[in-house]
Amino acid sequence: MEISSSIVTAKKWLDKNEVIAIPTETVYGLAASIYSQKAVKSIYAIKNRPATNPLIVHIKSERELYKYAQNLPIKAKILAKTFWPGPLTLVLPKTDLVPSYITANKDTVAIRVPNHSLTLELLETLDYPLAAPSANPSNQVSSTTAKHVEKYFKETLPFVLDGGDCSRGLESTIVGFEKGEPVIYRLGALTIEQIELVVGRVKIKAVLKDSETPITPGMFHKHYAPKTPFYVVKDVALFLETISVKNIVYIAHQFSIIHPKVKQQLVLSEKGDIEEMASNLYKTLLQADILDGDIIVTTWFENKNLGMSINDRLKRASAK
Ligand code: TXA
Ligand code: MG
Repeated sequence: MEISSSIVTAKKWLDKNEVIAIPTETVYGLAASIYSQKAVKSIYAIKNRPATNPLIVHIKSERELYKYAQNLPIKAKILAKTFWPGPLTLVLPKTDLVPSYITANKDTVAIRVPNHSLTLELLETLDYPLAAPSANPSNQVSSTTAKHVEKYFKETLPFVLDGGDCSRGLESTIVGFEKGEPVIYRLGALTIEQIELVVGRVKIKAVLKDSETPITPGMFHKHYAPKTPFYVVKDVALFLETISVKNIVYIAHQFSIIHPKVKQQLVLSEKGDIEEMASNLYKTLLQADILDGDIIVTTWFENKNLGMSINDRLKRASAK
């Protein structure tokens, strides 16, 4: 596997109907031309992703939106104008330019303009948009560095376009429309508060119970999970009193004195910055997972702004 920031090499592989990894501001993606059915098939195979789970189409600019989506509600246009390029995915009725093997035969397409200079430059040089799910095996933690992509896919990918660490570190927020009104299908790097400032109150359908069928087929309850048993608690000192295992890995939100029962401690943001905590979350989960602890433990965030999106991922990662 080659890892470099060469756009020429990235284009060469994509033009040859191959799958490569690309950086975005949210997480790394496994990318292929939306017009290469062969490459799209191998995305599903490499990720071990169910065929019923559609892919996000990545385009180079807001102008392109109108080629691939139609019958846009006014609030979709406003959101695209305001937040693209950025961590917002819109689910809209698709046009015939989007093959049905991208959308798992749905008549809607999930679409976004990623905010990463290297990937935007790459998209500029291509004659086609890129289909790209997150670069991780299904149900595992998403990759936010080229190194993590390499760990997962060393044997199966020819090339990673190295764009450094992802600045946001959480997947895009997915917004669909019901009767023209925005509905949040997946919490993510763009907060509800930011969205509501622009289009008013929105409904959230992203928080689901076990029994429900998710609207975004990828949002099953257990997801983003480390292999080590993972606990998210309200009060870590109280929790530690109740358990008998020896080797505890604790993920602290910010700088804190190490509890005597904690064997290894990782910190999301020394200075206590929520954006830094979000961008370090997956990296830290992956790091915690290889420390060979008996359990990993962390605490819930205050349930607003980015804290709400982080809590969503913690809930899925710790689901039993
Ligand atoms: O930040 C992101 O969105 C990253 C980067 C690479 O762009 N991509 C990403 O893709 O998270 P993925 O495949 O891991 O998650 C996409 C989600 C899935 O849950 C899928 O079910 C949902 O989007 N989705 C895709 N097309 C859809 C559609 N037409 N209707 C409803 N949900 C859809
Ligand atoms: Mg994913």
